[in-house]
Amino acid sequence: MQWKALALALLAGEVAAQQMIRFGCSQLVIERLDPLVNPGTLPSPHVHQIVGGNSFNSSMDPAVHDLVRDSTCTSCTFSEDFSNYWTAVLYFRARNGTYMRVPQFANVGLRQDGGITVYYIPPYDGKTKVTAFKPGFRMLVGDAALRKADGMQRQLCHRCYTTADGAGPAGDTGGAPCTGSDTQSLPPKPCAGGIRTTITFPTCWDGKNLDSPDHNSHVAYPREGTFESVGACPESHPVRLPQLMYEVMWDTTPFNDPELWPEDGSQPFFWSTNDETGYSQHGDYVFGWKDDSLQRALDARCNNAVCSELKVQTSEEALKCTKAQTVVEDVDGWLESIPGS
Ligand SMILES: *[C@@H]1O[C@H](CO)[C@@H](O)[C@H](O)[C@H]1NC(C)=O
Ligand SMILES: *[C@@H]1O[C@H](CO)[C@@H](O)[C@H](O)[C@H]1NC(C)=O
Repeated sequence: MQWKALALALLAGEVAAQQMIRFGCSQLVIERLDPLVNPGTLPSPHVHQIVGGNSFNSSMDPAVHDLVRDSTCTSCTFSEDFSNYWTAVLYFRARNGTYMRVPQFANVGLRQDGGITVYYIPPYDGKTKVTAFKPGFRMLVGDAALRKADGMQRQLCHRCYTTADGAGPAGDTGGAPCTGSDTQSLPPKPCAGGIRTTITFPTCWDGKNLDSPDHNSHVAYPREGTFESVGACPESHPVRLPQLMYEVMWDTTPFNDPELWPEDGSQPFFWSTNDETGYSQHGDYVFGWKDDSLQRALDARCNNAVCSELKVQTSEEALKCTKAQTVVEDVDGWLESIPGS
């Protein structure tokens, strides 16, 4: 439902049928590691959910770490994709002050254990070429320290599904991410069908740097217009990338009883950054597709998980790819505090 709605919304006014690579990645591990922002730090400041190749490690220096060579499996549908994708996780705070991690559910049409729905989207004109990421490429969106609205966060938002079957409020079900009544903050009211986070990455690259000190300034959003409408990239970042997008489905339904919510009318969910505003959600990416598989799939305008250019594994195989915590600690059950807080 969510994907169909998104595709239809994005299609409005477009001539060509939109093709996008969309697939599920199950949970690899949930733990306090962050090889991008805190390489080698055990534990890193807050809990992440990580999906993708099982070579994920506390440090992933591209000079020594090769995701394709060092992984033996991936939790993603496309078996040549050993990339790692990660985000913060959501906790519920009970009236007695203890916390429970919010479970995740699979997006429509996908079978997976929690995790992330990953999209690689080419421009909607059906012909403009994009350049796949290169080995060693990494980037992030969002700011774990942010606690108030910020323009930088425009590509990161939450959708409150107000009915149990996953439909949104009348009129905005089909809206593109971060439009309609989507919010940058966490939704202030219970969401009968759960909450979806959407994280959309920049689509313009400087063509030289695989990373940058802030893991962000080597990439940029289009200078004008939108990526979808083939908006121009800034001169400083001329290389057009596919649009990487994450969707994460949070099953908040076990916590929707008003008796469980704070008596002062505030909302009870916290990102693992110990943030109840919602602004600190973030998404991290380390590219790890085998050889030129992603480029071929983009050039062929592959759609969904149907792609003759790519090797597909069954959901059962993807589900088997998990990794033990490196930082061993409880992240589930009723906790006295959010890990690291
Ligand atoms: C994994 O991380 C550890 C600790 O930072 C580091 O010593 C090791 O070299 C890393 N391994 C790989 C393959 O990157
Ligand atoms: C705290 O509240 C939750 C939710 O009501 C409950 O399940 C849990 O047992 C409580 N924990 C303690 C220590 O009272």
